[in-house]
Amino acid sequence: MRIVETARELSELSYVVRQSGQKIALVPTMGALHEGHRSLIHVAQQHAEFVIVSIFVNRLQFNNEEDFETYPVTLEDDIAICRSSGVSALYMPSSSSMYPESFSTSVQVSGLTARFEGASRPGHFSGVTTVVTKLLTASAPDIAIFGQKDFQQFAVMRKLVKDLDIPVDMVMAPTIREEDGLALSSRNVRLSKESRQRAVSISQALFHSLSLFRSGIRDTQELIEATRQTCIGEIENLDYIAIVDAQTLDTVSEANLGDVLLFAGTIDGIRLIDNIIFSA
Ligand code: PAJ
Repeated sequence: MRIVETARELSELSYVVRQSGQKIALVPTMGALHEGHRSLIHVAQQHAEFVIVSIFVNRLQFNNEEDFETYPVTLEDDIAICRSSGVSALYMPSSSSMYPESFSTSVQVSGLTARFEGASRPGHFSGVTTVVTKLLTASAPDIAIFGQKDFQQFAVMRKLVKDLDIPVDMVMAPTIREEDGLALSSRNVRLSKESRQRAVSISQALFHSLSLFRSGIRDTQELIEATRQTCIGEIENLDYIAIVDAQTLDTVSEANLGDVLLFAGTIDGIRLIDNIIFSA
């Protein structure tokens, strides 16, 4: 596995790989890798011979200094996971090479970023779109893999590459969950034993709503209220529960196949997001 630390090195590597006729897949991450990230790597390997994983804790996308300071960093383990997963190259830029002092550009997708995570975390998405644009430019992949776990992030990325004519196929990989249903997240390690137990109520509420949908209920107010009732006792601060169109993220009054139930809330000061796609 090649480890590269600068955008220039990554561009050169990508050029040579493309010349050799291999397809390139990029899996952008912030490290603290878990099974969710690993599944993205597996999906990438199904689409391309050469898989690049990037690890960069992107300060620009943290709207909260404490969240950035306490973000888990497990570099040695991450490198071992990438090696054992058969990753072709690991891109680990330093903060100063990604954002030298002179850095003054930001990439902004409007509309989709104004709601939900964007409304609750001002500046978050422009940090994400700025860094992902840099990662895509440097690695020039054929495809890029993102998790459904961050559904809005995927929708924003899809819009970004369309609007900017970036020639990359965007692939969304399914959310990986603990056995009890909790979506894996690097931030889960911050949950105390008690809040970890309470957090299960989120996926339970989402799956409850899915089963109501499957039993024929389509009224979104009813589905949202049932979701709220299932988890409200365990959530300190419910940020949003919404049912949206998967492309536009506009809220819908009647749920249809393919629409998405988005959830965000706080347990013990830790903000957790999850979602489910209505399927048959
Ligand atoms: P990070 O939170 O490390 O997530 C990296 C990728 O893993 C994202 O596409 C995310 O959706 C996916 N992921 C996280 N948990 C998952 C789970 N339980 N199942 C499946 N996929 C999961 O998202 C980011 O980093 C950053 O915003 C980034 C895109 C790297 C830009 O800095």
